[in-house]
Amino acid sequence: MTYTPPADLSCPRIATRAGGLELSRIVAGMWRMAEWNMSVEQRVALIEQCIALGVTSFDHADIYGGYGVEGLFGEALRARPALRDRIELVSKCGIKLLSSKRPQHAIQHYDTTAAHIVASAEESLRQLHTDRLDLLLIHRPDPLMDFDEIAEAFGALRKTGKVLHFGVSNFSRHQFESLNRRIALATNQVEFSPLCTAPMFDQTFDGMQDLAIAPMVWSPLGGGRLFTSNDTNAENLRLVVKEIADRIGQPFASVVFAWIMQLPSRPIPLTGSGRIEAIAVAVAGAGFTLERNDWFRILRASRGHEVA
Ligand SMILES: NC(=O)c1ccc[n+]([C@@H]2O[C@H](COP(=O)([O-])OP(=O)(O)OC[C@H]3O[C@@H](n4cnc5c(N)ncnc54)[C@H](OP(=O)(O)O)[C@@H]3O)[C@@H](O)[C@H]2O)c1
Repeated sequence: MTYTPPADLSCPRIATRAGGLELSRIVAGMWRMAEWNMSVEQRVALIEQCIALGVTSFDHADIYGGYGVEGLFGEALRARPALRDRIELVSKCGIKLLSSKRPQHAIQHYDTTAAHIVASAEESLRQLHTDRLDLLLIHRPDPLMDFDEIAEAFGALRKTGKVLHFGVSNFSRHQFESLNRRIALATNQVEFSPLCTAPMFDQTFDGMQDLAIAPMVWSPLGGGRLFTSNDTNAENLRLVVKEIADRIGQPFASVVFAWIMQLPSRPIPLTGSGRIEAIAVAVAGAGFTLERNDWFRILRASRGHEVA
């Protein structure tokens, strides 16, 4: 069934920390953009449709699409330069993939040296056809990372105006707090969904709530597995979400996005679809909250047992 969003649907905004970076409450994830096979005009249209919905923040990484997605998005910005000032650009660095575009990489590995962070950010600027990133994240915690060196690299990028805000992704609470003590971080982007609830129980979200810094959430629909998985747990979860969605008259995915955003740490979900209807469904999830009973029904289905 296709979803017709209400004409007045509009995405709210959120500051990741008091006085800090402002993003749209739903962020459009671009990881899969290379699979969408869109022409430049179609990419421009998608960005414009997102902006019209109030979804102004776009999530990238240097490595998305085998080092190709930033360039695809950059082509759209080159075609419509005026779009740049109406959006926030997020990117990431720190993973070195084996790729024909990086023949010098002999093994897949992490690199969080200052030299690599600065070089990667500068390459993201070139690819995205922009003079600044609104937010740069360290993509994954690196066993060889030196918090002081990362903070120094972030400071240097800020000084030159090439990057306005900084954060991390997939960091533990301790790793986040260690770097945040050295330089104020805007977010920790982690995997979270009814199929992946770890951040709710391993202190990640509690720590963020305590610091009043909003996490970002990737794969909020389990990378699509919420719709497709034959796993018994996922099938049961699907039934429970569907029952609630039908009863309250909201789309299935809106219920999942609402369930996520209801957490007091204020998670900011990323969408993964190139379909504007799917992005609108996520935005609709910002417009209502679930009854506590229904919130816990989804938690019970996701874990397969009652709370104690
Ligand atoms: N920091 C990190 O380490 C990290 C890792 C992974 C991803 N990310 C970021 O998070 C973003 C979102 O991740 P994700 O793509 O895994 O998100 P997701 O929303 O969990 O999954 C997206 C998938 O769900 C499908 N889907 C969405 N709505 C659907 C519906 N109503 N019915 C059926 N299928 C539906 C999409 O298919 P359609 O395309 O057909 O709609 C797409 O294949 C990425 O774009 C990226 O920016 C970050």
